[in-house]
Amino acid sequence: MCGIVGAIAERNVTPILLEGLRRLEYRGYDSAGVATLDAERHLNRKRAVGKVQALADLLEADPAPGRLGIAHTRWATHGVPSERNAHPHVSGADVALVHNGIIENYKELKEELIGLGYRFESETDTEVVAHLIAHHLVQEGDLLSAVQRAVARLTGAFSLGVISRHEPGRLVAARVGSPLVIGIGIGEHFIASDVFALLPVTQNFVFLEEGDVADLSRSGFTIYDRAGHLVERPRAVSAQSAGVADKGTYRHFMLKEIFEQPAVIADTLEGRISNGRVLESCFGFEAPAVLDAVQQVHIVACGTSFHAGMVARYWLEEQGVPCSVEVASEYRYRRPVIAPGTLFVSISQSGETADTLAALRSAKAAGCLSSLAICNVPESSLVRESALTLMTRAGREIGVASTKAFTTQLVALRLLAIVLGRRRGLAAEQEAALVAALEHLPRQVEEALGLNDAVEAMAQFFGEKEHALFLGRGSEYPVAMEGALKLKEISYIHAEAYAAGELKHGPLALVDANMPVVCVIPDNALVEKVISNLQEVRARGGELFLFADSGVASHFSEGTHLLQVGHVDDSIAPVVFTVPLQLLAYHVAVLKGTDVDQPRNLAKSVTVE
Ligand code: AGP
Repeated sequence: MCGIVGAIAERNVTPILLEGLRRLEYRGYDSAGVATLDAERHLNRKRAVGKVQALADLLEADPAPGRLGIAHTRWATHGVPSERNAHPHVSGADVALVHNGIIENYKELKEELIGLGYRFESETDTEVVAHLIAHHLVQEGDLLSAVQRAVARLTGAFSLGVISRHEPGRLVAARVGSPLVIGIGIGEHFIASDVFALLPVTQNFVFLEEGDVADLSRSGFTIYDRAGHLVERPRAVSAQSAGVADKGTYRHFMLKEIFEQPAVIADTLEGRISNGRVLESCFGFEAPAVLDAVQQVHIVACGTSFHAGMVARYWLEEQGVPCSVEVASEYRYRRPVIAPGTLFVSISQSGETADTLAALRSAKAAGCLSSLAICNVPESSLVRESALTLMTRAGREIGVASTKAFTTQLVALRLLAIVLGRRRGLAAEQEAALVAALEHLPRQVEEALGLNDAVEAMAQFFGEKEHALFLGRGSEYPVAMEGALKLKEISYIHAEAYAAGELKHGPLALVDANMPVVCVIPDNALVEKVISNLQEVRARGGELFLFADSGVASHFSEGTHLLQVGHVDDSIAPVVFTVPLQLLAYHVAVLKGTDVDQPRNLAKSVTVE
């Protein structure tokens, strides 16, 4: 999704801006641009479609030095990816602006501004903001006031970085629903949509809050809230290392991240289980009292994180905890009945997903008991706005297709199910058995990774296919959904997941020799049911690709492509069975030659709704 970087310093900021953009590349984008103010007070703008390297090449051929500048990676919402639509956008020679998010009332504003004589060059909603600020700048004679007045007229969720040739000592930023952080240097200041962009220049940050407008100079900064009052926001020191993620010996980040899973699962468990028990303090010091009062759980997330929530529902219900799971984009616009004692659980790798954040805010406003964020980014908005947090320790995930974030989310949710189950009669020896299974998990995931070569061979059968069906039952149904999502997002093969029992209610009509059917089969009470469902596929000539627990594999060997996943305790089976599906998607994508780590049209961090 779009990325913002801005800087005001006593040195040339162009290299800082370019490095910041490179560090935001993993978020997904289609074009990039930079605008700097030079010593003669000219705004120099350079934009390029494609990778940040294309912009870097442009700047090498025709440098744009300056001590004040803004830069952007764009993920198209309004208007196709093109140089014309790329940011920064300008209003004449006066104002340059970068923008993340969506301006919902841009059409009305555009008509008004056209009426005032402004000319538009792009199809974006952003250009409206540039002209609106320029218009107020003429009236106010002051960039900060102009931005404040413009922001007051905008509806939507956005963040902005603005410079003007009339004020070379000023960088103005605003946050309304889209993350933005100030980086504090010595005699220099920065803005970015993600701290990672600024780690080479500072570890010290201030996170803007909803409605804040910030006024940055080389020597300092001030922040004003929505009402225009001067406010102080807490300073934070980032613990993240500045090192740029590196693929090591792997061909893609995604494969590296798949293979990191045994280690990051072990990290996620570390210090959180001891002597056969889950330590409740891992949810925060206030957690025990909150957990005592929980009557039911609402889980809300998007995409892969939503699938983790769906697995958790099976685990929570097993412990007698009523649980609903919903995608955030629906939850935020419904009026869910939040009964007394509802714990709102959000799950997000990035912690910046716009819909998930909005759902959290609406649940808090509706009076949920408390909120718990299961998240991978400590400084994220979701973590800062939730009462309780359980951090997954997956490390930075670069591949747009989420892998290690998902399995560590499952581990975190397994811990949650245990601590809530304890309050509903989960006996100490039962808890010890569940904890023991978790302790074996890194080794079992390692074993599943041992299937890599066999899965690569299996992937050959998918190279020419246009569709695939994924099946699972019980807690493996969401695993099938995750397998289908992985395949479609990186190989562009249309893939759908069904609860295996639902097959005969419609999707069976699709099954023929051209439809590969993938199924995950742990050794649990539903095996006989799955056997029947797969017979239905075979009877229609469907080609079966199965990942089965070694305890039940003998039922499925004949006439199928079968890989055995060892024997896995049912309580952790969703984690282990996810691994071969990740590998399958990866190898099919490599075979098809797609951009595995940055698949088309997708963004890592979805900060617009
Ligand atoms: C996963 O492979 C996807 N790229 C996507 O579905 C992702 O899980 C979703 O956008 C939610 O992101 P979050 O976990 O950062 O909130």
